[in-house]
Amino acid sequence: MESIHIEECTWDANLYDTKHSFVSKYANSIVELLAPKHGEKILDLGCGTGDLANIIYEYGADIIGVDKSETMIEQASSKYPHIQFMVQDAVSLDFHSKFDAVFSNAALHWVLPANKALNGIYQSLKSGGRFVAEFGGKGNVQTITNEMIQQIKEKGLEFKNEQFPWFYPSIAEYSTLMEKVGFRVTFAQHFDRPTQLEGDDGLKNWIDMFASHFFNGIPKNTKNEIIVNIENNLKNTLYKDGHWIADYKRIRVVGMKE
Ligand code: BEZ
Repeated sequence: MESIHIEECTWDANLYDTKHSFVSKYANSIVELLAPKHGEKILDLGCGTGDLANIIYEYGADIIGVDKSETMIEQASSKYPHIQFMVQDAVSLDFHSKFDAVFSNAALHWVLPANKALNGIYQSLKSGGRFVAEFGGKGNVQTITNEMIQQIKEKGLEFKNEQFPWFYPSIAEYSTLMEKVGFRVTFAQHFDRPTQLEGDDGLKNWIDMFASHFFNGIPKNTKNEIIVNIENNLKNTLYKDGHWIADYKRIRVVGMKE
């Protein structure tokens, strides 16, 4: 199966940093779960514009960031020139027993097939190394995506399952995949993390940035009408005290290569 990791999505790295900075702001506790140590070799998989790689660097680790998106890597390299960043797809990692830890935040829900990525992660780790990840879990942003699909269909347009760009597994499903490639799963958690989007246009901006696949082939005017309908229908549930709140659900996992 091919990768859908950000394949048709042209990432705007500036927009990502200014309007979607919550992606790395929420991430401090996953870095704590990683607990980077001085001198450890760590891979940040799906590093985006590099903010977490830099935090891990400040712990004294020897960090390399990889991301499939060239624009993200360009931005990361110009923000943090002291860190090595490389364009690399999570499903074709080419490292062998190199890292003490592989870390990934808010990226693996874009990566299919998950078992191919997990194999590459496992190969990248030294024996005794750890894999620490957080990403969208079962039910993630479902209130938003159900409404998007409903509104696309109400316009008389087709929505095919293949257009759904994300993989949101349960912890049972993902732990099983991890075990199949050889990991001992030492931690797995699935939790709600309501996420405030910035500004009155927060939901529209989120859809424009992350969910453009849903509108492939739909003219811009129609897309805009659909987004207005989505906003109107979700206002009661997801708009509170002047902010849009997205119904994020995360999974966190830790696996050991023994
Ligand atoms: C997430 O981090 O859960 C996420 C981000 C963008 C699109 C979909 C999910």
